[in-house]
Amino acid sequence: MIRSENLRSGYIQDDVEQYLYELLPESDAVISDMERYAAEHRVPIIGPAVARLLALCAQIAGATRIFEMGSAIGYSTIWLARAAGPKGKVHYTDGDPANARRAREYFRRAGVAKRINVQVGDALELLKKTPGKFDLIFNDVNKDQYPDALRVALPKLKHGGLFITDNALWSGKAARPAAPDDAATLGVQEFNRLVYASKELYPVLIPLRDGVTVCRKQ
Ligand SMILES: C[S@@+](CC[C@H](N)C(=O)[O-])C[C@H]1O[C@@H](n2cnc3c(N)ncnc32)[C@H](O)[C@@H]1O
Repeated sequence: MIRSENLRSGYIQDDVEQYLYELLPESDAVISDMERYAAEHRVPIIGPAVARLLALCAQIAGATRIFEMGSAIGYSTIWLARAAGPKGKVHYTDGDPANARRAREYFRRAGVAKRINVQVGDALELLKKTPGKFDLIFNDVNKDQYPDALRVALPKLKHGGLFITDNALWSGKAARPAAPDDAATLGVQEFNRLVYASKELYPVLIPLRDGVTVCRKQ
């Protein structure tokens, strides 16, 4: 069984997607609780398949300085913090203070609270204001903001750093003509055009769950 509706891609055949999730090992207690909470309250988390990709990218890149744009209850944040290791620092950002309160409790339970800096507000503004550059920036804000998120993130990324974005296929809608008032789909489409046109980035769009774009800054 696919554990919750929000893990469905909307474009991969159900049996193939189910197979992919069945291969994954059981999540630990904190991560399982978060997955259950997200399913019950319709929180759109990346889920365990994309989380593993995120953690793998962070580990391969040796990323310790990480900024997350759009963190919700902190599910992806915990995967990043674990991958970054004890010397890592992950900046959590979300516009909703209730999400941040819940996230802090999960961070404490997961034993990674010291590695995470929680900030509430607009992720794009917070990224601009946070000093220094990052090894990895993970983008999961509102989809109509994706082109702006890219413009803000690029100068804040180290050379050789990774810019990773979720929902790059947007349930497959990214591949089809969008209605003029569908700001989310238009935002994702514009973002995809921009990253592939960028001379500074080397992107790969991976059709895992809702699509994940991993870009390396040259
Ligand atoms: C898809 S959810 C994030 C899920 C999280 N990355 C995970 O996988 O566990 C998007 C979250 O980003 C927040 N958000 C959207 N746009 C934002 C912005 N511009 N600044 C801060 N938070 C934003 C929303 O409140 C929501 O909680």
